[in-house]
Amino acid sequence: MKERLKAIQEACLAKIEQAGTLDALNEIRVEFLGKKGRLTEVLKSMKDVSPEERPKVGQMVNETRSKLEGRLEEVRAAFAKKIREEKMKAETIDVTLPAKRRESGHRHPNNVALREVERIFIGMGYEVVGGPEVEYDYYNFEALNIPANHPAKDEQDTFYITGDILLRTQTSSAQVHEMEKGRLPIRMISPGRVYRADEVDATHSPCFHQIEGLVIDKNITFSDLKGTLAEFAKELFGENTKVKFRPHHFPFTEPSAEMDVTCFKCGGKGCRFCKGSGWIEILGCGMVHPRVLEMSGIDPKAYTGFAFGVGLERIALLKYEIDDLRLLYENDVRFLKQF
Ligand code: DAH
Repeated sequence: MKERLKAIQEACLAKIEQAGTLDALNEIRVEFLGKKGRLTEVLKSMKDVSPEERPKVGQMVNETRSKLEGRLEEVRAAFAKKIREEKMKAETIDVTLPAKRRESGHRHPNNVALREVERIFIGMGYEVVGGPEVEYDYYNFEALNIPANHPAKDEQDTFYITGDILLRTQTSSAQVHEMEKGRLPIRMISPGRVYRADEVDATHSPCFHQIEGLVIDKNITFSDLKGTLAEFAKELFGENTKVKFRPHHFPFTEPSAEMDVTCFKCGGKGCRFCKGSGWIEILGCGMVHPRVLEMSGIDPKAYTGFAFGVGLERIALLKYEIDDLRLLYENDVRFLKQF
């Protein structure tokens, strides 16, 4: 009996050492320790053992069983550990890999154009300042020398909130706020929204953007204005861009002008883009009117200055060859992504 148990134990241990998988271990458990297993069979044949021998044999069977169970468990645990380690290795996340980029929209063409304009003027030493969109009549009209009976003040053109509070129709109001601060000299641009009671079409919107510019210092002349704006045009539209100033009228500047640039599409020869003229109008400008300086507390005998106002949409439309203003406000990503 003792030999039989020893043989079973050795056979079992040998099989365990050769087992390569958890399934194989399970089969071994069934074969040796199961209900019909080889060790159980030994117990069944106890009836052939003499009564005095039985407890001894029983004990031997139990010892063998616990030895085999112990070994089975050791090997099973080792397998399980190995499997877990392999799984961990396979599923490791390499945190040093660069993350996947998330699509996070796209900068609006107005903003692309604005950044460009800001970059150019900051490069020339200008400051970028803001200004209120809801404004007093005084800042939008009166302090800019716009007479009380001026047609722009008509309710058909301007959104009024009360009799003397309105949505600004031009960023020129920011000039007044800047001058009132009493810090001279001034070199600033002020971009922002403006509002006019216009119907929406391919070239009009009741809300659009302007960029105002103002320079005030001693001995500022019209040639400073010309040089600055010619440089601006070159930076914005290309080195070969030429500019032309046409006399115009603005109540807040004297003299006043509109500036045209040579068409960057045909270089000035004339094409569909510039309607055959070779020139494209891009901004209004002039020397700040002495009355405007005076109203904001600046002595026009000591200081002079120039100012200009550019339509931001106009620049975006020209630069990116967009032919309908409405496209800028529809916020269709398929459109916006092109710029
Ligand atoms: N405010 C003018 C407009 O809305 C543009 C303009 C013209 C601004 C001449 C200026 C300027 O500062 O000097 O049409």
